[in-house]
Amino acid sequence: MIQEIKNRRSIRQFKNEPVPDETIKEIIKAAHFAPSGRGIRAWEFFVIKDNLTKKKIAEIGQQEFLARAPVLILPVVDKTKTNLAVQDLALASGYLFLAAQEQGLGTVWKNLNSEQAKMIKKLLEIPENFLAINIIPVGRPAKKIPPHQDKDFDEKIIHFR
Ligand SMILES: Cc1cc2nc3c(=O)[nH]c(=O)nc-3n(C[C@H](O)[C@H](O)[C@H](O)COP(=O)(O)O)c2cc1C
Repeated sequence: MIQEIKNRRSIRQFKNEPVPDETIKEIIKAAHFAPSGRGIRAWEFFVIKDNLTKKKIAEIGQQEFLARAPVLILPVVDKTKTNLAVQDLALASGYLFLAAQEQGLGTVWKNLNSEQAKMIKKLLEIPENFLAINIIPVGRPAKKIPPHQDKDFDEKIIHFR
């Protein structure tokens, strides 16, 4: 697990290969089993494969790689069910990243500001009460990025008391 954490890097270039729906479901299942505030798990996941929709999202997000990824996953949390939506989204995303890594898939956190999130929700017909803070491209990495290395970790950030 720790080695997979080190191996995970943000991937912004993908092979032009489809990702099977079953694999997408597996990595979303892993996200669903992330801890959530009070165990509410008020999250839902939108899987975008349509090329035109991806292109529109790339325009809204102002990052072209969004159009070129085989799949985009938009995690959302129902704000009416929890006041910890941001925390839940971040943790679910982290679990999704690691599950994807295990499947040989690359991901990256593409941040969305509130205006971009609003526009994407409108495009996908997602009700206002759902919060989105990021969108996650998923696909086979086009090139290998070197893993994180122990030399980049400084024990000075740890404070025993
Ligand atoms: C909160 C957050 C926001 C990020 N926003 C973006 C983004 O909008 N676009 C992007 O290309 N990468 C984004 N990233 C990815 C970071 O640039 C990346 O995680 C960081 O450079 C470390 O590299 P690594 O993921 O390969 O370890 C974001 C990451 C986080 C955690």
